[in-house]
Amino acid sequence: MATGHVFIASSLDGFIARRNGQIDWLSHPGMDNEDHGYDAFMATIDGLIMGRGTYEMARSFGSWPYPKPVIVLSHKLADSEVPADLVGRVRFWNSRPSETMELVKAEGWNRVYIDGGKTIQAFLQEGLIAEMIITRIPILIGTGLPLFGPTEKDIKLKHQSTKSFPSGLVQSHYEVGR
Ligand SMILES: NC(=O)c1ccc[n+]([C@@H]2O[C@H](COP(=O)([O-])OP(=O)(O)OC[C@H]3O[C@@H](n4cnc5c(N)ncnc54)[C@H](OP(=O)(O)O)[C@@H]3O)[C@@H](O)[C@H]2O)c1
Repeated sequence: MATGHVFIASSLDGFIARRNGQIDWLSHPGMDNEDHGYDAFMATIDGLIMGRGTYEMARSFGSWPYPKPVIVLSHKLADSEVPADLVGRVRFWNSRPSETMELVKAEGWNRVYIDGGKTIQAFLQEGLIAEMIITRIPILIGTGLPLFGPTEKDIKLKHQSTKSFPSGLVQSHYEVGR
């Protein structure tokens, strides 16, 4: 089975986006001069599985931001054509988390970047996430789309490391108990 890996930023109060999906608050003074390890992480993964919410936000950026193949999970987009400029880079699937991991494993993927709040929560529930690197932005946004949600049972984490950056960002690396 392929393993799921999370690399995500959240507000200190645990949100990954405002309620309307906006991520303006992710930009924090001083952070652009720092290396938070995103490129190094991206280099280790074979592809991404993300939810429609994350895809739609990425699509609104000027250019497609992902250098690796992307599977977008969506009931709504499953029967749609992939936009012409993303053909060969993006596929729309409507499959359960464990089935999705089996399908990408069959294509030779081993390390999979799992992205999007609801998607991360679903993959965690099914025990498909091996590690999480969470970068906390020193801001409270009060309400929004949560990184985590209800769980059927406790999910134990093993803390690997935490580092802080001059900008105030704090990044923690956890292994997920299986
Ligand atoms: N802070 C950060 O670093 C960061 C990182 C990533 C994303 N974001 C932000 O987070 C927001 C999106 O997060 P989100 O919580 O809305 O979740 P999301 O996981 O990106 O998208 C959720 C949607 O994905 C589809 N989906 C998920 N699992 C599925 C499955 N197994 N089968 C079929 N469809 C599935 C569903 O769409 P359908 O209704 O189409 O079925 C679901 O509503 C965006 O605003 C994005 O900008 C922030």
